[in-house]
Amino acid sequence: MASKPKIVVVGSSNTDMIIKADRIPAPGETIVGGTFATAPGGKGANQAVAAARAGGDVTFVARVGDDMLGAQAVDGYAKEGIDVSLIQRDPKLATGVALIMVDATGDNSISVASGANFALTPADVERAADAIKSAKMVVCQLETPLETIQRAAELARESGVPVLLDPAPAPSEPLPNSLLERVSIIKPNETEASRLTGIEVVDEATAKLAAEKLLALGIETVVVTLGAAGSFVATKDGARVLVPALRVDAVDATAAGDAYSGALAVALAEGKALSDAVAFATKAAALSVRKLGAQPSLPSREEIDRA
Ligand code: RIB
Repeated sequence: MASKPKIVVVGSSNTDMIIKADRIPAPGETIVGGTFATAPGGKGANQAVAAARAGGDVTFVARVGDDMLGAQAVDGYAKEGIDVSLIQRDPKLATGVALIMVDATGDNSISVASGANFALTPADVERAADAIKSAKMVVCQLETPLETIQRAAELARESGVPVLLDPAPAPSEPLPNSLLERVSIIKPNETEASRLTGIEVVDEATAKLAAEKLLALGIETVVVTLGAAGSFVATKDGARVLVPALRVDAVDATAAGDAYSGALAVALAEGKALSDAVAFATKAAALSVRKLGAQPSLPSREEIDRA
């Protein structure tokens, strides 16, 4: 068996507090009922765990609080075989916490208190320079400061290492070109693609328009996820493909996008063809919605290969 591709994930780590109920309350409304669970989460950590379970040799660059939740989180990542030596323990700020409400159809509503995640600095990323330079892929999201992501992208590109950006949560405004021009692969969903481009993405045709705009910025590969309509894939070499979604009954959609990004990074780093890598990521995301909780739901390589 070939050695595992080295993936560096720079991003957030949260503890998720989850209530699953029939529906999500409206503002000002109280709903009684449902079940409560806690689970490790955070988009960065979910992508790190997704990549490790999908077959990557993962290093996670993050910042958690010097508290019980941070200790539990780091311990959990280490048990996944992730290199945790570049996770900083912040003496002043708490570990990130996400309050997640999940309805009967698996849809969610998430509020994040970022805590230490927003104190992850460019200097923290510079400490990871050796890991970044020797990686096959660097993966970032938007739950840590933009300047930090920018520094990770700069270090990666200086060494010719591709950068996969999952632009989640959806940015409130378009991202700076100085970041986007260093991104090799971007994987927005409809909302994120709309925010990034100003084009309302609702279907394949509008995904294509948005993808063209992102390609024009110098990004090599754009993968717009369209939920049940599949993934629209566009490359600078002219490929335009719709990869179908898989039909699943969702228990909890939390971290489906993270499962997708982590698996996509591994598949591309292994050298799979783009359409095969997208199909692999699609299976990982579909498997992840069958279980409650972010990291508890992320599939193993065996489960993805079997699906
Ligand atoms: O993408 C899902 C994640 O978003 C959750 O785990 C939560 O922590 C928020 O960061």
